[in-house]
Amino acid sequence: MNAEQTDVSTTIVVIDDEPEICRLVATLLTERGYLVSTTDTATEGLAMVKRCQPDMVLMDYMLPDQDGVTLLKELKSLSPDCSVIICTGGGSEEIAVKLMKAGASEYLLKPFNPSIFAERIDGVRRLRSIELANRALQQERERLLHEIEAWNRELQSRVREKSEALQHAQSEIAQTEKLAALGYLAAGMAHEIRNPLNSISLFTQLLSQGIDDSESQDYLDKILKEVDRIDGIIRRLVEAANRRRSAAQEVRVEQVIKESLAIFTPQVEARQITVAFDYPDLLPSIKADPTELEQIFTNLFQNALEEMGKGGCLTIGLNTSENNIEIRVSDSGGGISPEDRDAIFKPFFSTKSRGTGIGLPVAQRIARLYRGELSVEQSSAAGTTFLVKLPAGY
Ligand SMILES: Nc1ncnc2c1ncn2[C@@H]1O[C@H](COP(=O)(O)OP(=O)(O)O)[C@@H](O)[C@H]1O
Ligand SMILES: [Mg+2]
Repeated sequence: MNAEQTDVSTTIVVIDDEPEICRLVATLLTERGYLVSTTDTATEGLAMVKRCQPDMVLMDYMLPDQDGVTLLKELKSLSPDCSVIICTGGGSEEIAVKLMKAGASEYLLKPFNPSIFAERIDGVRRLRSIELANRALQQERERLLHEIEAWNRELQSRVREKSEALQHAQSEIAQTEKLAALGYLAAGMAHEIRNPLNSISLFTQLLSQGIDDSESQDYLDKILKEVDRIDGIIRRLVEAANRRRSAAQEVRVEQVIKESLAIFTPQVEARQITVAFDYPDLLPSIKADPTELEQIFTNLFQNALEEMGKGGCLTIGLNTSENNIEIRVSDSGGGISPEDRDAIFKPFFSTKSRGTGIGLPVAQRIARLYRGELSVEQSSAAGTTFLVKLPAGY
């Protein structure tokens, strides 16, 4: 573009109908390193510009085949980056202004002194190269600004993602800490309660040995049963929080579910609950501690039964999907309100007056121990479905 800066010669087309001028100009400019082409008509000049896209054009204002302003405008529309210098034998300030407005870069009066002429042409060349460099810099600046904006957006979204992940991790830690606290509490409680409980059990057994009256005997049996129940609750609490895991064995999930359901038979019958349990014949077994799995299902069944009135419907569906065994436990209870949906898996959250709020967090923790998940699949005023996913290959 610029002979001084890039070593590539500046190309210039000279359009003048006086052959003498063309020769003189060509000699002068070639000496200064320009690549010069000349022509004596506007038509040929336009064709050359179209063909070669020169850096500059030097044109006579008074050409036989076209007036200067029209030619200038056509040149600029053909090649907007081309610098056009106009020479004229006689001109006025008015014409000069008009030409500059139409896009001319320089206006020279003939006849010209060769050295001044060359300097003026060099001046236009320098100005042109500065303008082009300036434009390139501006384009680069725009490009960089866009790039920075894109980086910014990317950075913001990454920060957002990481913050969410951190928040999630923190709430998981809080849940685990609560479960650990629960284990500690349960162990202390078990110790405090079991001794008096043993005494109640012992004295009741002693009493029942000396009684013939069947009604009193019945009451004493009931006391013993309730004592057993309390003992069971304490045992489950301690186990839920910090039980040692026994070795995993091949477990048939449908079998575990049947055994978990059996515990609730008296309740189911008394409240005329319909239980539907569908499972395919060919189900893969999984490696697990059956009592841990049982805990998931007893918690879900317990909750479902607590939500349903007389004549409710408990549906259990089992199927495989990809590498998971999916178990759906649905009830016809009143559903979970949308604002409670996230809270129900947090330890100690309960909407029941005598609830402990540990059933679901413990069940979820066990599912996750097996790289599975426990979630609410759907819930409405017509009932709720919990989904347990357990990897079949675990
Ligand atoms: N099947 C269900 N239908 C409606 N709400 C449920 C169901 N299961 C659990 N919930 C809600 O989740 C809460 C937490 O359950 P859970 O952790 O088992 O504790 P708890 O049963 O002691 O309240 C319950 O208090 C109840 O509000
Ligand atoms: Mg519960």
